[in-house]
Amino acid sequence: MKPSKIYDQGSMPIARKTCWFDTQQFLEHEQPNLPVFLYAASALYKTSRSLQLNFPGEVSYAVKANPEETVLNTLWDSGIRSFDVASINEIKWVSSLFRDANLHFNNPVKSERDIEQAYCLYGVRSFVIDDLSGLNLLIPYLRAEVEVTIRFKLDHDRAAYDFGSKFGATSEQAIMLLKRVNQYQAKCALTFHPGSQCTDSEVYERYIIEAARIARKADVSIKRLNVGGGFPVNYQNSNVAEISEFFHVINQTVKQCFPDDVPGLLCEPGRAMVSFCASLLTRVIHLRDNGDVFINDGVYGGLQEQSIMAIETPLRIWRNGIEIQQGGKARTIFGPTCDLVDRLLSQYPLSEDIKPGDYVEFGLMGAYGSATATGFNGFDPAEYVWVEKGFEL
Ligand SMILES: Cc1ncc(COP(=O)(O)O)c(C=O)c1O
Repeated sequence: MKPSKIYDQGSMPIARKTCWFDTQQFLEHEQPNLPVFLYAASALYKTSRSLQLNFPGEVSYAVKANPEETVLNTLWDSGIRSFDVASINEIKWVSSLFRDANLHFNNPVKSERDIEQAYCLYGVRSFVIDDLSGLNLLIPYLRAEVEVTIRFKLDHDRAAYDFGSKFGATSEQAIMLLKRVNQYQAKCALTFHPGSQCTDSEVYERYIIEAARIARKADVSIKRLNVGGGFPVNYQNSNVAEISEFFHVINQTVKQCFPDDVPGLLCEPGRAMVSFCASLLTRVIHLRDNGDVFINDGVYGGLQEQSIMAIETPLRIWRNGIEIQQGGKARTIFGPTCDLVDRLLSQYPLSEDIKPGDYVEFGLMGAYGSATATGFNGFDPAEYVWVEKGFEL
């Protein structure tokens, strides 16, 4: 695929170029039969700067949401120096790109070998645990420069995914773990993850109040409070406050709950950091007599989240390089594989006369899109194409 024109990134470093101006220009030159992600580095740069400016602490990036090299490079250029990593391969990957990155190994469940490699080969000095077995594995590495963060959980139902059934100590366990960690020289910290796409800032408030109670009960001064990711994105069918509102609540609550001994704050957004930077351009491959639509990507590709979350991303429909009017009845959309689950949970009105060959562009696809795509059934995951101007909302 040849770029028609190279556009400079404005304030972005000159080495990072985009190829196409926007989706329309791309489609005027190319009519791809395979799905593509249209990636706007400028949108990511802007979001990242804004999060760093508004959050009252350090912003780390949850690599799992989108580990593409171009995404990580843009984040680094925008000033991000800390990364939440969940596996040795993520650690290797980020270390290979940035020698000086701060890596937080925040998957609470890690093997002995993973910890050894992270510590000895990659210089990782920050680890999350949520039980005693996890702490026991870390004991050989505990010293003053090592940070041990205890992840705890509360019950709530304000997130699309609630991680509470898989990760997190109860408050009582967290108190016990904090006391134990404090017996070593390591730095003590607390964390929680309210669940992804958490739509209520009050959940963060409740967690921070509980973190302060845990620290008080354990009689331990925590060096850091990591308020996790989970910040929501405004999909078509969500109505959520601006992220700055969440940051305001976090800031106020921390000040009230830790009046004398304010811990350093860290957040680690995935979805809220990268959703805006990419759209997914798919092509209609078949129209059933009953109006159901088959497209060339699905839940085994870039649309995996739409099989487990009833999110509705913004859409644009394209025909012959021109955006056409959306509307008509809401349609069932199937992906191309032979599997029954390859179907989007939400129905979308596409256009009255949608037909094979038209393109359906899904916005807000930068997070958990390419990151979770597979090549199931021989349908290759979508590749990245650069645009200067992303899918504006
Ligand atoms: C420890 C941790 N931090 C941050 C994130 C990012 O969450 P989100 O994409 O909801 O911001 C995740 C997601 O799974 C996570 O497990």
